[in-house]
Amino acid sequence: MLTNILRPVLNRSFKPFEFVKCDDNNDLSYVDLNNKDNLGLYIHIPFCKSICYFCPYNKELYDENKAFEYKEALLKEIKLANLRYKKQDITSLYFGGGTPALLLEYLEEIIDTVKENFNIKGSLAIELHPSNINLNLLNKLKALGFNMISVGIQSFNKNCLESLGRKENNDAEKIKLIKEVGFETIDVDLIFGIPGQSIEELKEDVVLAFELGATQISTYPFIDFSYANNKRKPLSSNEKKKMLYELVNLSKEIGLDRTSVWTFAKPNTEKYSSITRENFIGLGPGAASLFDDKFRLNTFSVNEYINAINNNEFACALVLNFTKFSRKSYWLFWNVYNMNLNKDPYEKMFSSDLSKDYRLELGIAKVMGLLKEDETGYKVTTKGSYYFHAVEQIYTLQYIDKTWSIARNNPWPNKIELY
Ligand SMILES: C[S@@+](CC[C@H](N)C(=O)[O-])C[C@H]1O[C@@H](n2cnc3c(N)ncnc32)[C@H](O)[C@@H]1O
Ligand code: SF4
Repeated sequence: MLTNILRPVLNRSFKPFEFVKCDDNNDLSYVDLNNKDNLGLYIHIPFCKSICYFCPYNKELYDENKAFEYKEALLKEIKLANLRYKKQDITSLYFGGGTPALLLEYLEEIIDTVKENFNIKGSLAIELHPSNINLNLLNKLKALGFNMISVGIQSFNKNCLESLGRKENNDAEKIKLIKEVGFETIDVDLIFGIPGQSIEELKEDVVLAFELGATQISTYPFIDFSYANNKRKPLSSNEKKKMLYELVNLSKEIGLDRTSVWTFAKPNTEKYSSITRENFIGLGPGAASLFDDKFRLNTFSVNEYINAINNNEFACALVLNFTKFSRKSYWLFWNVYNMNLNKDPYEKMFSSDLSKDYRLELGIAKVMGLLKEDETGYKVTTKGSYYFHAVEQIYTLQYIDKTWSIARNNPWPNKIELY
C-alpha cells in the first residue's frame, strides 16, 4: 500500500501516525502563538437542511432548538479560546460546514464575539449551499464584512446532479447574484468523475462558472467515502486522471492560474482556501486545529461538544503529536498540494533548510520531472500534479476516511492508528 511506503519516508520512522485522547481540555493556560505569521480561524457549522449521499463532512439535520444551543456553546468556546490564545492576530476567518447560512440570524453575534476575542486582520469567508442564496442573505453577509464566498455547485448539469443525488437550485442565477452584490472572491466547487459525466460536460461546467462570475473553481475528484451512501460509484481513477488533464489544458486556454492541484483561479484574485495554511485554530464539532507540534480534532458529536463547553472544557477528542520531522512533512504535503515549495517560509518556520532536509526525495522528484527548482524553491510540474492527485485521493481514503469514520461513531475514541 502506498501510504505504508511513504509513511517511513515522511515520518522517518516505521511507527504509524497515532491519534490519542486529548488530555488538556480543562487547561486554559496561555499558549503563545504570536510568532505565527499565518494563523487562520475556522468555525464549523454542523447542520444541513438535507443530507447529500456523497458528503463526508461532519453534519446533522438542522433543528432550530439544537442550532440555538449550539450557537450558545460556540460563543462560549470563542471566549474560552481567548483565555488560551489571548486576543491573537488572525489572518482569516472561515465559516464552513455543513451549511453556515442556516445560522444567519446568529452570524453577527458570532462575528462580534470573535472580534472581541481575536484580532481579525484578513478576509472573512463563508461556504454557501445554492439553496440558501438570495439577495437578502448576500446583502447581510456583505454588511457583516464577508468578502469571500464559496458555493457548492458540484455541476450545472442536471444528469450529473441527479447522479450525485442533488437537486438543481437555479444555480447559475445564484452565482450571477453573488457577482452583482459584489464579493471579491467567488469560489465555485465542482466535482469531477461523477458517474455518467463526460469530459465535455465537465468543461462546460468550468466555462460557465467563470462566465457567471467565479474568480476561482475548486474541482474535486469524486471520492466514494466508506460511510457515504452513493447510489452510483465514481468514474475510474484513469478517467478522473484524464479529466484533470483536460481541466489543466482548458485552464491554460482560458488564462487561469493553477493555484493548487485541484484549484484554478483568475489571475490576481485572492484565493479561497480554508485548509492550506501553516497554522489554524478550529472551533465547533469536528473542527481541526494545527499549531506547533500538534494536530487536534474536536469531538464530532454536537451534543458532546455542547456538554464539554458548558462544563468550561475544550471539546478536543483526539490529538496527533507530530515529531519534528513529521511536522515538516505535513508542511511539505500541503505545499506540494499548492504546487509551490518556497524555501524561505520553510526556513522561517523550522529554522532548517528544505533542500537539505529532503535532499533525496527532492532529488528523485526532480529527476522524475515532478518538480522544478528555481531561485525561490521548487515548483510542482504538471506531471508532478498528476502523481499528487493520485496520492491525495489514496490519503483521503486511508487517513481521512478512517479517522472520520471512527470519530463519527465514537465521540471520544481512545486511539486511532494510521498506517
Ligand atoms: C463542506 S462541502 C460543502 C458545501 C456546501 N455545504 C454545499 O453543499 O454546497 C465542500 C465541498 O466538498 C466537495 N465534496 C463533498 N463531498 C465530496 C466527495 N465525496 N468527493 C469529492 N468532493 C466532495 C464538494 O464540492 C463540496 O462543495
Ligand atoms: S454537501 Fe453540503 S449540504 Fe450536502 S450534506 Fe454536505 S455539507 Fe450538507
